[in-house]
Amino acid sequence: MTLLIQNGTVVTHERQFVADIFIEGEIITAIGAHLEVPEGARVIDASGKYVFPGFIDPHVHIHLPFMGTFAKDTHATGSQAALVGGTTTFIEMLAPGGSERLMDGWRTWTGMAEGRSACDYTFHIGVTRWDDETEATLRELAAQGMKSFKVFLAYKGAFGIDDAALYRTLALAKELGVIVTAHCENAELVAQLQGKLLAEGKTGPEWHEPSRPESVEAEGTAHFATFLEMTGAKGYVVHLSNALALKAALDAKARGVDISVEGVVPHFLLDRTLTEREDGAKFVMSPPLRDRSNQAVLWRALEDGLIDTVGTDHCPFDVAQKDMGRENFTLIPNGIPAIEDRVNLMYTYGVSRGELSLTRFVDALSTRPAQLFGLYPRKGAVAVGSDADLVIYDPAYRGHISAATSHMNTDYSAFEGWEIDGRPEVVTVRGQVAVEGGAFVGDAGRGQLLRR
Ligand code: URP
Ligand code: ZN
Ligand code: ZN
Ligand code: ZN
Repeated sequence: MTLLIQNGTVVTHERQFVADIFIEGEIITAIGAHLEVPEGARVIDASGKYVFPGFIDPHVHIHLPFMGTFAKDTHATGSQAALVGGTTTFIEMLAPGGSERLMDGWRTWTGMAEGRSACDYTFHIGVTRWDDETEATLRELAAQGMKSFKVFLAYKGAFGIDDAALYRTLALAKELGVIVTAHCENAELVAQLQGKLLAEGKTGPEWHEPSRPESVEAEGTAHFATFLEMTGAKGYVVHLSNALALKAALDAKARGVDISVEGVVPHFLLDRTLTEREDGAKFVMSPPLRDRSNQAVLWRALEDGLIDTVGTDHCPFDVAQKDMGRENFTLIPNGIPAIEDRVNLMYTYGVSRGELSLTRFVDALSTRPAQLFGLYPRKGAVAVGSDADLVIYDPAYRGHISAATSHMNTDYSAFEGWEIDGRPEVVTVRGQVAVEGGAFVGDAGRGQLLRR
């Protein structure tokens, strides 16, 4: 199979230029002006459109046992939603709950994804407790190419680990050359504050944010950074939400700690007042939506490259699941669905509204995730020899977000009615067209597990 994409404006993390792109099989084999049309090649006219490298979502939850229930997407629904939204690879948090052994978790997650994901995928290996088997299992999974781990400093009594386990994980990661991603909130402080608020009769979703304030996240971030410093490991703070936590990460970076920062879509666009609504539970995630004043800081840091990447933290629960916390905000399943909307929202409210340059947009949503997590230049690049994962993006499209038209398996959108200035017209996964005219037309089980 050969494919020629003509006359698009190719955008990389460094520059933009008009060119044709030729694809043979799964790989880009030529880029240049006015390439000859080989016999039998399918030709796609990309005049007036951008051609981006396939976007990589570095932080999603598809299969997730959490807070007594399960996130709603399957690898089929999640991956198709990703593709329609321009994401051609996602990195899922593999997070065994309860007493599930890590190696059993590996089998569970890979078994669910294999043959069902339409896009490529890989995993951050969650270290949710430290027992006799943990070290050997982590060594084995790293040897199999799973070169990133995940720890939760939050969620006491669930995914959260103590400092001894954190130290061991980081020391091992340093030895193995594995990057460790971390949810940075101080679990004990959150637990204490939750108890205090509930005792005062403060039970609604608007009390979720005060139960885990900005300074509690900043403490978690500084705490993680100190452990990175002592072990020499390479770290990545997931879903950083506010200016104080950003300062903690940047202070550590300034003294030489190897730390990168991820922002996620909800924190750039939504704020804590949404949890005061009657349907406020829909907007409960952790770290929480913050005071709006943080958003300008996050956008600026993103444009300056101080926030390295943008993920979603896609975590879909439906309205009935959110309702489990009607009488008690600590029982609301945490998470906001967004895997389908990341690219369009960051393009519209970042690039189109002047907060974000086009090259930094590509860098943060594709190239940097690929570089940090060992996928570059196979992914995250428009280059000869790279996988032909491409997004032909129509900046003239106008539409809006709605749960009714979403491919995600949930019944609400936190961005219901939001306008979007553009969308992926055509998306390819390793040379095969998976999206056309905004609709999924791909091969449901074609996605591959990416070993790094
Ligand atoms: O609220 C969130 N973020 N839910 C998913 C789990 C996590 O902490 O990433
Ligand atoms: Zn988290
Ligand atoms: Zn601490
Ligand atoms: Zn998450």
